[in-house]
Amino acid sequence: MKHSEDIHVNGKIALVTGAARGIGRACALALAEAGADMALGLKDVNADNGLVREIEAMGRKVLPLQLDVSKVIEIKAAIEQIKKFYSRLDILVNNAGIGPPNPIEAVTEEDFDYTVAVNVKGTFFMSQAAGEMMIQQKYGRIINLSSQAGFIALPTESVYCMTKAAIAHLTKCFAVEWGKHHVTVNAVAPTFIKTPGTEKWLLNEEFKKEVLSNIVLGRVGEPKDVAGAVLFLASPAASLITGTTLMIDGGWTAH
Ligand code: NAI
Repeated sequence: MKHSEDIHVNGKIALVTGAARGIGRACALALAEAGADMALGLKDVNADNGLVREIEAMGRKVLPLQLDVSKVIEIKAAIEQIKKFYSRLDILVNNAGIGPPNPIEAVTEEDFDYTVAVNVKGTFFMSQAAGEMMIQQKYGRIINLSSQAGFIALPTESVYCMTKAAIAHLTKCFAVEWGKHHVTVNAVAPTFIKTPGTEKWLLNEEFKKEVLSNIVLGRVGEPKDVAGAVLFLASPAASLITGTTLMIDGGWTAH
């Protein structure tokens, strides 16, 4: 067997949260292209932006799910639907996340609680619920979306930065507890990626210039730059990797 044949997810069942657009959409497409049948976590199940049809056209199964990750009741209901439809879950990509910019002086209790609820609480309880199935199966791959913002302090993004640092650390905590169940838990930490979520920032030429001055490789990312790394971490090629956060930052944090 060729060693390169280890980068696939043939026959696996994968759930991506926040799948409708941006990085989540690219991850869902990459996993489906690489052989997985999909469950799609959608904040509004009626707004998949054509993703269901696109995946079905590849000949893969797809299960769209109503899944606001800030609500544990929706997490539990979505996992129940996966149990009924697929009877297993092999891969979870905790992609759903928000990053409203706000100088520290202006952060309200509501901003703080909601960002923590989506980014940290959502990732924790999503992993807990998916992990129950993975532990029973004695197999699972969880990939969390951290950010370079979890490793460096970006002005006006204190709450976001804090949540993404928490993701990198909870990745280690889950990895250490669940290694014995053959569940690996890793994260990726991208730099600025062109998505609907970052579009308006990156259209600001001054801001973009500042960003590019920090990225050693001289370009902002595309969603597929993240999807490729997520696919690798979900594949047999990454079977001895757990507890790590892979920087996808074009070298920003290397200097
Ligand atoms: P985006 O804003 O373009 O898309 C986010 C998706 O998450 C949307 O489909 C949205 O409906 C969904 N979502 C929002 N709140 C949700 C909730 N409560 N429950 C379920 N889904 C929810 O975001 P983008 O840029 O694609 O980012 C995806 C992830 O990658 C986020 O966790 C983000 O923090 C992280 N990231 C993004 C970077 C970037 O530059 N785009 C850089 C580093 C990390």
